[in-house]
Amino acid sequence: MVQRKITRNWSIPKGQEMTDFDKKILILQNAGKLVPKRQLIKTPEQIEGIRRSGVINTGALDLVAANIKAGMSTAEIDRMVHDFIVSKGGVPACLNYEGFPKSICTSINEVVCHGIPSEDEILEEGDIINVDITTILDGYFADASRMFIIGKTDPEKEKLVQVAKECLEIGMQAAKPWTPVGNIGKAIEKHARKHGYTIVRELCGHGVGNAFHEAPDVDHYNTHTDGMILVPGMVFTIEPMVNMGMRDVFIDEEDGWTVVTEDEMPSAQWEHTFLMTEDGLEILTY
Ligand code: MF3
Ligand code: CO
Ligand code: CO
Repeated sequence: MVQRKITRNWSIPKGQEMTDFDKKILILQNAGKLVPKRQLIKTPEQIEGIRRSGVINTGALDLVAANIKAGMSTAEIDRMVHDFIVSKGGVPACLNYEGFPKSICTSINEVVCHGIPSEDEILEEGDIINVDITTILDGYFADASRMFIIGKTDPEKEKLVQVAKECLEIGMQAAKPWTPVGNIGKAIEKHARKHGYTIVRELCGHGVGNAFHEAPDVDHYNTHTDGMILVPGMVFTIEPMVNMGMRDVFIDEEDGWTVVTEDEMPSAQWEHTFLMTEDGLEILTY
């Protein structure tokens, strides 16, 4: 006979009493569902830490919103955010992360994500740009990004930015406690397709908080699998990348980071860090 791989992520530490919370998870695990490991359930202290980190991260995005304009270089945005985060006692998580050379990611038009800020890259009227910022404060990570429209853009790009935002909101609604993470991508892809858009598959959302990238992966498309059960106390991002044209992407060979649409059509992305509660998601990066 064939033995399926049994993953037992949840166990009761020796000498510890079983709580109702433990029982609920064990029942799901025994039914064959993939449940989180205990370390993915944040303690109240950890949640407070991530929340404080989120306040600075949101402050940084608000600072960008107040200052971003045509004629500005993406390096200028990078410096502004870097100085802000450091002035608040935080550290920009992207700087030197796996060799990334700057403090934030700036991704314009056909750039999907992980664009590297540069003195030579000047914002132009009609550009759409994603600014993705991650802050570390006292060891706690908060990760969020927004789209900005430079001046006035054409209606097609404006709609893409709007629908990408809706995709994040719809993904957020689909994330219910004690249900599979796979429901998020199903709902998001359905909404994108309704508008003739596609969802990038090569990059996903992620657990976050005690590290930059933790389990689980949060896919933004319909994988036709359940994945991990979302349990109150988990903290993760949703960050759908929505393409106007085809979903295919490639990585710039020269810098090894910049993700670009294969057909060079525009792409848009919004991201928040969320806490799962018994009532659904709470945004930690508002
Ligand atoms: N902030 C991105 C995310 O949402 C990750 C950027 S990694 C970097 O997961 F190295 F490119 F900065
Ligand atoms: Co992220
Ligand atoms: Co991010």
